[in-house]
Amino acid sequence: MIEARNVMKTYGSGDNVVHALRGVSLSINAGEVTALMGPSGSGKTTLISILGGILSATSGSVRIDGREIVGLAEGELPALRRDLFGFIFQGFNLFPALTAAENVSVMCQLKHVPEPKKRALELLRMVGLEDKARTHPSDLSGGQKQRVAIARALAGEPRILLADEPTAALDSVSGRTVLEILSGLAREKGRAVIIVTHDPRVLEYCDRIVHIADGRVESDSYRTVEEVA
Ligand SMILES: Nc1ncnc2c1ncn2[C@@H]1O[C@H](COP(=O)(O)OP(=O)(O)O)[C@@H](O)[C@H]1O
Ligand SMILES: [Mg+2]
Repeated sequence: MIEARNVMKTYGSGDNVVHALRGVSLSINAGEVTALMGPSGSGKTTLISILGGILSATSGSVRIDGREIVGLAEGELPALRRDLFGFIFQGFNLFPALTAAENVSVMCQLKHVPEPKKRALELLRMVGLEDKARTHPSDLSGGQKQRVAIARALAGEPRILLADEPTAALDSVSGRTVLEILSGLAREKGRAVIIVTHDPRVLEYCDRIVHIADGRVESDSYRTVEEVA
């Protein structure tokens, strides 16, 4: 689904140059939860931003369904992002002035989903928040906000979900609820789910663990049956 080959990313120039990615090759498959782990500053956020077409790579190749996105004109990326990806961030990024349902329906509108208000309520139901549709983010718990953010990311049925530290701000029960929803989307709906995380709880819910260190893939392995048991 996503094929990254020898992706490099440098920020800045001259004395201030930062080599955030030093040649990353990685393929992301449908129906799997991939955990991207690694120390702070290792390049995880840079990598998912490039995989998701938010940031352009300095060099290398990223193919999505066979289509090269590195070097694509700036103007072409927003449409690609809109059609293929759902993004979930640590900080939720909900609009404070809008209700839960409005936060989701705005994204449905942006993605040209028919009947956005109705669809927003369906998506909230999927994450168990139908009773919070009219509630504003300030009156929701952290776990509820993250579930609204997931509902919003699901607008337009994206095939790829990218989550950057989605459980970092959550207590253990709401963290698990969020992980159950994300892994269910991979297993039952065949979505590709990529979770950037430091959270060891994520390991129970992922199929594959990719460790990033100093801008490189240090290890990439599927969990074995023994680990799952
Ligand atoms: N916009 C930026 N400008 C300059 N350097 C950046 C920028 N974003 C990230 N970096 C640097 O790139 C490296 C990787 O950062 P990042 O991808 O955020 O890592 P992680 O998500 O693993 O913490 C770090 O050294 C960071 O300081
Ligand atoms: Mg990061």
